[in-house]
Amino acid sequence: MTAPIESVLQEQRLFAPPPHFAQTAHIKSMAEYQELYARAQADPAKFWEELASQELHWFDRWHTTLDWQPPQVQWFAGGKINISYNCLDRHLSTWRRNKAALIWEGEPGDSRTYTYAQLHREVCLFANVLKQLGVKKGDVVGIYMPMLPEAVIAMLACARIGAPHSVVFGGFSGEALRERLNDGRAKVVVTADGGWRKDAIVPLKEQVDAALPQVPTVENVLVVQRTGQRIPMEPGRDHWWHDLKQSVSADCPPEPMDAEDILFILYTSGSTGKPKGVVHTTGGYNLYTHITTKWVFDLQDTDVYWCTADVGWITGHSYIVYGPLSNGATTLIYEGAPRPSNPGCMWQIIEKYGVNIFYTAPTAIRSFIKQGEHLPKSYDLSSLRLLGTVGEPINPEAWMWYYRIIGQERCPIVDTWWQTETGGIMISALPGAIPTKPGSATLPFPGIIADVVDLEGNPVGENEGGYLVIKHPWPSMMRTVYNDPDRFRRSYWEHIPPKEGQYFYFAGDGARRDKDGYFWVMGRVDDVINVAGHRLGTMEIESALVSHPAVAEAAVVGRPDEIKGEEICAFVILEGFQTGSEELAQELKQHVAKEIGAIARPAEIRFTDALPKTRSGKIMRRLLRSLAAKQEITSDTSTLEDRSVLDRLREGI
Ligand code: WT7
Repeated sequence: MTAPIESVLQEQRLFAPPPHFAQTAHIKSMAEYQELYARAQADPAKFWEELASQELHWFDRWHTTLDWQPPQVQWFAGGKINISYNCLDRHLSTWRRNKAALIWEGEPGDSRTYTYAQLHREVCLFANVLKQLGVKKGDVVGIYMPMLPEAVIAMLACARIGAPHSVVFGGFSGEALRERLNDGRAKVVVTADGGWRKDAIVPLKEQVDAALPQVPTVENVLVVQRTGQRIPMEPGRDHWWHDLKQSVSADCPPEPMDAEDILFILYTSGSTGKPKGVVHTTGGYNLYTHITTKWVFDLQDTDVYWCTADVGWITGHSYIVYGPLSNGATTLIYEGAPRPSNPGCMWQIIEKYGVNIFYTAPTAIRSFIKQGEHLPKSYDLSSLRLLGTVGEPINPEAWMWYYRIIGQERCPIVDTWWQTETGGIMISALPGAIPTKPGSATLPFPGIIADVVDLEGNPVGENEGGYLVIKHPWPSMMRTVYNDPDRFRRSYWEHIPPKEGQYFYFAGDGARRDKDGYFWVMGRVDDVINVAGHRLGTMEIESALVSHPAVAEAAVVGRPDEIKGEEICAFVILEGFQTGSEELAQELKQHVAKEIGAIARPAEIRFTDALPKTRSGKIMRRLLRSLAAKQEITSDTSTLEDRSVLDRLREGI
């Protein structure tokens, strides 16, 4: 049988963990990682059970560690736990009581810091306000917020009283908000009068007002004042947080939750159809995000840790809020974004707070590259000791830039592969233990049984492409699609049918493993291009394009071709706003052919100044496919960040 995807990328560079880093790391050597991995593989339930007792506080112990009735899973059933207790209360009786828990930097330059004691108090007040508004255990609360401390506080307050939160990214429209609030039957919405982004106010309350007439379940809106602009407040429905806060006590005992009670719902768009409400529960999620934060980011008590995601994404849930706070860390959030009036704001923040760990996305790294080296070079980045990336495959050249310019060849990079559905990081280097290779997420976390298989579930050979799957349940896996268990089964468990009792969680990504067992994610299988029977992943061709000095960013898609089935059409953004030419197009085609072979040679290169992206920065290749084939775009464009990009691309045709 031919491999599901062929691999063509050659990348030989290897970076060992710096010895001084390894010395003080939680996991100090490859041998230590391998020992942990083997132990977890031999008896996963025992491995997780030991960590659950060591690392978390439980009000009552569970009776069953793992109950696996595929695809239904329960972890720590019978256990009683509260994640806000683990993130806050348990630190209050230690020296961390007065440690900075949350540092917030506003875009206009204002800032606030909350110690653990202060954050605990705010969360208790917020929880009591929610209760006053009628929120009870099990009621869904919508959170539609800018990056403010109150976004974090609202999430923890929901967790404290057992009200599942449904955070909707503040950049989404009123329509997207309405759809998500209705699906979750939310009872209350938490929002703000606005937030600062790129020197302008994001008018969140306006979107809420537009959405709510068609959301019958929402009874109350709690509004945080950020910008101070005048906004309409509907009497009886809308309440200011700073008013209600005055009338409640700061005493709010955490609700003992069942380990399997819902902690939150988070919508993920998927490539087609209506967004899926990914459901995560309490105990397993708390454990897995806690331990992955500790080991993958090698979190130490002295660190200032900055994940640049928005709380509206899973990265924000797991690695801004729950993972770091459960570990007693100092987590930093930033309200805004790089903008003409302050293009170096990211580096300025690293300098100002002495950030030690910086976790961002390839889309951000690509935009830093476009801005040029002079910006990061004019700030003091010497506090950094570890870098991370998540969200898409990172092209080796972008990895090298991140390593050289931001990490100054001193900081290991953890390329973390995971998904909204997995709840936490699944494949990543542990920075003191696992040598890294640019473009590879390296090896699975202990307890994660990952593989690359064909459609029958058979492992493919070394360096052969296939489907990335997980073969054993893990504590933070999604439990279901909210209101749609059937869709859960269809989307994740049926692509590769179970055989002999072995179930395969299908991630939707193509990947290969190299001779060292390292995983190389090759992109979404929906994006695979079939040229004359060769199935090529997007990542490798794009990496070849980006390795040419003139290219800043590239996206490739397949376009129907009578002879070859499909041919490759590449959309290319050039460095330094250069304009393209026929000669350069020829040169780039040659370059790809030379780097990875004639089969991957693009039939066409289209120069552009922007690519269609989701609001989380992922390239929307299905839209490019329609453009390349000169078809009307009929699929959903509601998650598109900037609609004008499509028009510009069309005009270029
Ligand atoms: C999809 C999940 C996980 C938080 C942010 C995105 C892609 C994610 C990597 C990586 C290659 C990656 C995959 C995955 N992806 N991280 N390190 N290397 N691909 O969450 O929106 O649920 O997206 O993002 O395609 O399936 P998400």
